[in-house]
Amino acid sequence: MRKNIVAGNWKMNLTYEQGVSLFSEIVNMAKDEVVGEQEVVVCSPAIHLSSIAKLSSGVKNVHIGAQNIHEAEAGAFTGEISGAQVKSVGAEYVILGHSERRAIFKETDALLAEKTNAALKNGLAPIFCIGETKEERESGRFFDVIKTQLEGGLFHLSESEFKRVVLAYEPVWAIGTGLTASPEQAQEVHAFIRKTVAEKYGEQVADDTTILYGGSCNPSNAQNLFSQEDIDGGLIGGASLKSRDFLDIVKVFN
Ligand code: G3H
Repeated sequence: MRKNIVAGNWKMNLTYEQGVSLFSEIVNMAKDEVVGEQEVVVCSPAIHLSSIAKLSSGVKNVHIGAQNIHEAEAGAFTGEISGAQVKSVGAEYVILGHSERRAIFKETDALLAEKTNAALKNGLAPIFCIGETKEERESGRFFDVIKTQLEGGLFHLSESEFKRVVLAYEPVWAIGTGLTASPEQAQEVHAFIRKTVAEKYGEQVADDTTILYGGSCNPSNAQNLFSQEDIDGGLIGGASLKSRDFLDIVKVFN
């Protein structure tokens, strides 16, 4: 049985005080309002992790994650942060392969494969993002793009390793643009992702894999998106910065 997850990605937003305050609101609301088995994950900037981990300790279904790690265990990599470091303050997840990391920081599938290994080695579950650009969608190449991202970043994993990965389909043209994929467009790609996973790891693993949708997801469209057969939750950017909006998205699974 696969998990439903609603994960917030704060990106490079919020000062320390603002982040702790928002997370406190989220935890308090989650305690009162989340009645199902869905998981709430907040992926904050690294500066918040240690403090918000303490606030979420013992709170059912609320977890925290980082937004990136370096592929190496430790060493002379000024400004970077390792899987062991984020794990040591209580993170359980890490976002990898976000399109902003791919486009702005030139992260390749090969590098993301190394980062995935580093995450798993340190007991972090990767939230591994895949998705096509506007041009790739319009040219009709998007299934190939997504398959290549899966193969290059993840398909070197053993079955037991892959089972610890959460996937996130994020069409780049929908991120922060207000242009959400329609539920049918998203479902079509999610079903393709599940089929591609099944071809590599078998039907059971594919059936158990959580696949999130990300890209301008908000309280108004989450219900229609999450009711699709192969959409198991969301990776939420802008709407995760407002506690009420974020919790309303989480509560779609109540
Ligand atoms: O990681 C989250 C995504 O990039 C979605 O961002 O909800 O602001 O479009 P958005």
